[in-house]
Amino acid sequence: MKFAIVNDIHIGDYRPYKGIYRKNNLQAEKLLRNFVQKMNDSFMPDFVVQGGDMIEEANLAADKKNYKKGLAILSKLNCPVYHLVGNHELEYLSIKYLKETLKYRKLYFNIDCKNFRFIFLFTKRFYPARETKLDSLQLNWLKKKVNTDKKIIIFSHHSLVPVNTRKNFWFSKRPDLTFIKNYRQFLKIIAGKNVKLVFNGHLHWNKKAVVNGVHYITIQSLVENTSGKIKGPSANAFTLVSLNDNFSSIKTTGRDGKDYKIKI
Ligand SMILES: [Fe+2]
Ligand SMILES: [Fe+2]
Repeated sequence: MKFAIVNDIHIGDYRPYKGIYRKNNLQAEKLLRNFVQKMNDSFMPDFVVQGGDMIEEANLAADKKNYKKGLAILSKLNCPVYHLVGNHELEYLSIKYLKETLKYRKLYFNIDCKNFRFIFLFTKRFYPARETKLDSLQLNWLKKKVNTDKKIIIFSHHSLVPVNTRKNFWFSKRPDLTFIKNYRQFLKIIAGKNVKLVFNGHLHWNKKAVVNGVHYITIQSLVENTSGKIKGPSANAFTLVSLNDNFSSIKTTGRDGKDYKIKI
């Protein structure tokens, strides 16, 4: 079976950070439409994952409008699309609004398909410390869901394990903003279970780590300008995954793309 991930689409205003236009926000809709066309015409996945940060936040009205623009483009896919919620969605949009708009009962859920269980997690922000965590209800739910003979693949917006952010444009000085605070609890829950692959976005780069035998794959943003220049082309990155019973082939397209073959 096959699936694709498109993440950190960031539809919204174009603005610099540390003097550099790293997100090509104004190209986001066009690149997303191209992605949809490629999926429908050639890759033909069983499903698509929208990995969070579909918008670049501005204010409540603009964010609602941009979120709906993204959903409308993705609705043209000939396959189901499953949505993760990213931190940029949570600046102005409420959890209630997101659930209603996505028609989801919860922002975490799973689907079973053939020999696989796909688990979608919600990395939620807690106030006032603005820490990102999996809440306790979700952890209890996860404990039940990892009890399966199926091979498990997990998706989340933030990393579920600490990562080295050295040389990351966004987070080199703030690694704490990239992974969930209660990762130890998460690792305890999945220890000895059938988890094979974990995918996340948020860091806007391609990187892989192995923790307790599980591959954690961070994937590049669709719109990141990786040229090193003040303005430059988009990475145009999305990720294509093919699975068979024992093997996965993972390809992140675009500038600085990556290819992995991982036994599962
Ligand atoms: Fe992002
Ligand atoms: Fe993010």
